[in-house]
Amino acid sequence: MNFHVLTLFPEMIEQGLGTSITGRAMNKGLVSLHAVNIRDYAANKHKKVDDYTYGGGAGMLMQAQPVYDACMAVQESLEKPARVVYMTPQGSIFNQEKAKELALEEDLIILCGHYEGIDERVLEEVVTDEISIGDYVLTGGELPAMVVIDTISRLIPGVLGNGVSADTDSFMNGLLEYPQYSRPEIWRDKAVPPILLSGDHAKVDRWRKQQSLLRTKQRRPDLYEKYMKEHPDAEKDCK
Ligand code: ADE
Repeated sequence: MNFHVLTLFPEMIEQGLGTSITGRAMNKGLVSLHAVNIRDYAANKHKKVDDYTYGGGAGMLMQAQPVYDACMAVQESLEKPARVVYMTPQGSIFNQEKAKELALEEDLIILCGHYEGIDERVLEEVVTDEISIGDYVLTGGELPAMVVIDTISRLIPGVLGNGVSADTDSFMNGLLEYPQYSRPEIWRDKAVPPILLSGDHAKVDRWRKQQSLLRTKQRRPDLYEKYMKEHPDAEKDCK
């Protein structure tokens, strides 16, 4: 999968994703990251990309021309037009389902805004999806873009190491994950739940499913309700 990020701060994206699991995925050729500096497409000799807003008000706005030209340059380098995701607090809230949907794309263009935003006219021209990572406002779209790229990348086969699968994680099946324990068996007088030491895999699986359901019910009643509508026998199945 190829990510093309349109940004005024390409080094932020490259450095943020260049280490750990995403960095390794790039080195293995499982994903590629192409950070495009929007400033390189400014048509004026001062390489200016922002200006005051019509109608007044504080702050500067990113202008349409460099954003449009940067986006078109990427689109023209591709065999077929790619979706263009604009990171904005006005978008629909990002979740695992949206990540799964976007992971099916071969190329994805991600547009990061800065200052007070981007001229509406270019957004109307090029953007196919608007995504927010939550109801709070960041200084720019770069961190949200990294969140989206990280989440999608770990769904791509081979990105998570040896046989580790993304699909037992929290949210992948619509429930929160069960609690997990490692050595020692007793730590600060707290024992590992005995069932996990029993060696009975069927029992362990049932216990984990119960714990997932319980946690989701207590911590995310919204997710629990949705899950129970789709799986009415879930509680019974792990008794
Ligand atoms: N840009 C600024 N804040 C944002 C948010 N919450 N989500 C996506 N992009 C943003």
